[in-house]
Amino acid sequence: MENAKNSNRLSVSERLVNLLPQRMRSQIDSYFEALDVFMQVRDPKVLRALGPAGLRGLLFRRGKQGVPTHMPASHNAHFDWNYPSDQPEMAELYRRAKLGQWDGDQLPWQIDVDPLNPEVPLLPEGFIDFSLFEEYGVRLNREEQVKLRYCFCTWMLSQFLHGEQGALYAAAQVTEAVQFFDGKLYGATQVMDEGRHVEVFNRYLDEKLGRMYHINDNLYVIIDSLMTDSRWDMKFLGMQIMVEGLALGAFCTLYQQTREPLLHELLRMVIQDEARHVHYGVLALREHFTSQLSDAERREREDWAFEVSLLMRNRFMVYEVFDEWFEGRISRANWRRLVNRQPGMNRFRQVMFSRLVPNLREIGLMSPRILPHYEQAGLMQFFGGASAMELTAERLLDELDTAKAA
Ligand SMILES: [Fe+2]
Ligand SMILES: [Fe+2]
Repeated sequence: MENAKNSNRLSVSERLVNLLPQRMRSQIDSYFEALDVFMQVRDPKVLRALGPAGLRGLLFRRGKQGVPTHMPASHNAHFDWNYPSDQPEMAELYRRAKLGQWDGDQLPWQIDVDPLNPEVPLLPEGFIDFSLFEEYGVRLNREEQVKLRYCFCTWMLSQFLHGEQGALYAAAQVTEAVQFFDGKLYGATQVMDEGRHVEVFNRYLDEKLGRMYHINDNLYVIIDSLMTDSRWDMKFLGMQIMVEGLALGAFCTLYQQTREPLLHELLRMVIQDEARHVHYGVLALREHFTSQLSDAERREREDWAFEVSLLMRNRFMVYEVFDEWFEGRISRANWRRLVNRQPGMNRFRQVMFSRLVPNLREIGLMSPRILPHYEQAGLMQFFGGASAMELTAERLLDELDTAKAA
């Protein structure tokens, strides 16, 4: 039963949804929400780029069908028979990446993980504010609270795993398509890194947490649109800058917050790889966007990055946990309000965008034309931060460890 004091905040679509029988409400709400995603995209070119993937992900829910998905790829593989040394900074990243290879089997898998042990919490106690649930008439006992935190953490790690699968194939595509030869050699190491990330997240979920959630529909949309876009720089922008940049922020937040030692060590190793990946993305795109593209092409990418930022900020609503726990007890609209106000999720959003925005600035996708939109979305506070060019893995981990100790 939901609290009446929330009813004066209902939107028109919510009022319509509330007229329906209970079992249809969530389904219809998800359609309204998908429609809302499309209506909020202002640029028709961006809509054309995201639209087909949006239909597949949000309406047909391809990621949740329980069968493999085929995504047609149509990029050009770029061969160069002269094997030029063309990008010294990428060559340096390649050298570091070779030295930085590690074996997922070497993580301390012997550690016994009890995800429900409050002495060694996966997520800190304050990650979820349970008093907010009471505003919607839901009271959870101590045991349920621990279990819900475990589900949130499992949901996040499941999304990391699905994102890593996308990163693995995107890295392979980008390695074929990129025009810098040093970038291709570097790309081969990233493919290996992403394979290892799939391995360790999958193993952690399977052996230690004992379950996995489906891919979030919005993450599906982003991955689908990147895999099927034939432009290499869009794949780069989407995967190396947006998805990887946000993932790096998410890994860092969880690394700081978890008290579970195996997960902590796993994330420490993954963060070192990801810092290189984002660095590579910034390096490749900075030159391309500032010297190779027409103004119109650069504007399109600027708009696309902004829309995808909003999609990523506003749409990861942990619905897969909602479906399991609160369907019929809280409406989806109120669930969104609840998730938006959760301190742990807010912390994630803050750190994720503090990583992403400086990289968008660095590659030239934050011209004065777009800044007011970022300002309006509350994201300008991150504009002056350090980009991936300045942030080596060592510095990143150092800062995280110092902040944790303080
Ligand atoms: Fe990765
Ligand atoms: Fe990566």
